[in-house]
Amino acid sequence: MTKRDVLVMFPARPKTMAQLEAAYTLHRYDEAEDKPAFLAEYGPRCEAIVTNGHAALSRADLDHLPKVKIVCCSSAGFEFIDAEALKERGIWLTNSSLALCDDVADTALMLALAARRQLVAAHDYVRSGDWGSKGMYPLLSSMKGKRVGIAGIGTIGQAIARRFEPLRVEIGYTARNARDLPWRYFGEVEALADWADTLVAVVPGGAATERMFDRKVFEALGATGTFVNVARGSVVDEPALIEALSSGTLGSAGLDVFLDEPNPDPALTQLPNVTLYPHHASGTVETRDAMSQTVVDNLAAFFAGQPLTSPVYDLPAPSGR
Ligand code: DGY
Repeated sequence: MTKRDVLVMFPARPKTMAQLEAAYTLHRYDEAEDKPAFLAEYGPRCEAIVTNGHAALSRADLDHLPKVKIVCCSSAGFEFIDAEALKERGIWLTNSSLALCDDVADTALMLALAARRQLVAAHDYVRSGDWGSKGMYPLLSSMKGKRVGIAGIGTIGQAIARRFEPLRVEIGYTARNARDLPWRYFGEVEALADWADTLVAVVPGGAATERMFDRKVFEALGATGTFVNVARGSVVDEPALIEALSSGTLGSAGLDVFLDEPNPDPALTQLPNVTLYPHHASGTVETRDAMSQTVVDNLAAFFAGQPLTSPVYDLPAPSGR
């Protein structure tokens, strides 16, 4: 049987690539030196794309991909993929939020606790011998009885809320509209920040959310507040965050993502009240394999005419399956 043609814009994990190679004819745009020439030559025959949210896929690229009916993205985020253009053309988009939500939720909880209980500084206090020479580490503030605000209550946001529930905190969230969820709804992120002691950013990246966590949000969160970011660096006004943390307007931050990766601003990373993680919330073998597997599973479902396992949006069933 003839194999379907699939364009690889960003490779998946090795064992996923082996499965894809066995099932499809892969065209390695990711390895091509002259990408425009490669796209012009192989794009017109491809029916599907394997990619990741860090690789750009523009409306102009789609002009070279007339037969594409599905784009399978191995990451949760897809801000460099023009999802509107895909939707307009009846092209499915799948992502991996379901596969990574537990590890990202664990990381949000870890960063919140580490920032508020000063894990890194306290660790150094023991290791350096300061505990013996200087005495007891300063008293800190409990999580229990406090308020946790989650900005963005999709699959990952809900997993984060469930992680915090056993800590006996109150939970609030923002979303476009109030959802049928057991937590308190806020229409605006600033109001949520004003209410919360810990604010977790888990909104998608992209133009709509650029710099939505700004000076006003950090002021509202306040001197005893903690900001946790497991979303994207772009959602934060980073100079405002640096200023708020330096001046004490904001108490602390736990950050997995940064504006400039992998070389975040030293003015941020050198601050004593930040706990840092290298955009690694989903960075476990199990989760990265599962994220990659979503690509295989969605492609297989698509070509078999079955429901997709993790579509980003719904479309009327496309022809040409
Ligand atoms: C995602 O999947 O979007 C994570 O941030 C890893 O890139």
